[in-house]
Amino acid sequence: MKSRLLDILRTRAGSAVSCRQLSEEFVCPAARVEEAVQELNGLGYIIATDEGGYRLLASPDIPFPWEIPEYEERLHYFPQTDSTMDVARQMAKGGCPHKTVVVAGTQRSGRGRLNRSWYSEEGGLYFTMVLRPDIRPADGFKLTFLASLTLVGVLQETAGIETTVKWPNDILAGGRKICGLLAEMDAASGAIEFVNIGIGINVNNRLPPDQTAAASVEMLAGRRVSRTMILRRFLERFEANLRDVPLSDVIRRWKKTAGSLQKRVTVETCEESIQGTAEDVDSEGALIVRTDNGRRRRIVYGDCFYR
Ligand code: BTN
Repeated sequence: MKSRLLDILRTRAGSAVSCRQLSEEFVCPAARVEEAVQELNGLGYIIATDEGGYRLLASPDIPFPWEIPEYEERLHYFPQTDSTMDVARQMAKGGCPHKTVVVAGTQRSGRGRLNRSWYSEEGGLYFTMVLRPDIRPADGFKLTFLASLTLVGVLQETAGIETTVKWPNDILAGGRKICGLLAEMDAASGAIEFVNIGIGINVNNRLPPDQTAAASVEMLAGRRVSRTMILRRFLERFEANLRDVPLSDVIRRWKKTAGSLQKRVTVETCEESIQGTAEDVDSEGALIVRTDNGRRRRIVYGDCFYR
């Protein structure tokens, strides 16, 4: 009911809708409508009541499931959690459907790549999507590349921000990190059980105090941008890309949005630090670096910094 109720109030912006009209529309007692209005007001919406009926004055920027009706049954919003990766893993293990989405207002122990933590203050967008694609486990990594190239388009559409992808899974704006992606995959007997893609976007949140290399959507757009709108648009575009972009073309498309190729880089792996020029990303998602002594190095896991 919440989704349709908000829809009606939004389309009649300004003019009141009576409780009687709504109870007829929903074929339910007026008390049930009043209850739903009170519930929404308790969640941060401002629905004024006067003799003419109800008027929606403001909505909080919280990605509640009913704000994205196509995902209402599969989107789970938590005001706070330890990490959406953990919740999503539990749900995936418990058999949740393909395209389940776990969103958190804040995370107590948000995780990044290479065992780093992910600063998850109020105002950012933190979510993990559970995917159960019918593809080879060896192609699973391409979904994260597909998600990051989708995000580049979404940030342009919703906030007018130009971003680039940086190997393997960062999104940068003007050289500063605005978004990071983290993937976890579970495969058994040659088939994918699930690929969970965690996405953290600095939207309207404060940035980590010690990080001058980070930026937020708000900083770059010069205004607050709706997290709900970013998430809604991402889910819509990602679903279309999953359907329309052949997996064999993901890396080529990703490279078109990459800012880190043909640049001087330092790549930190678990064992060493490699310096040279980032020449390419191959069909398996590995970074190809030409070192200063002319050697070609293929890096599967690491972190890349421009020099
Ligand atoms: C990185 O750049 O190192 C990846 C950061 C990924 C952060 C997101 S926020 C939502 C999801 N939950 C987590 O604990 N991490 C990912």
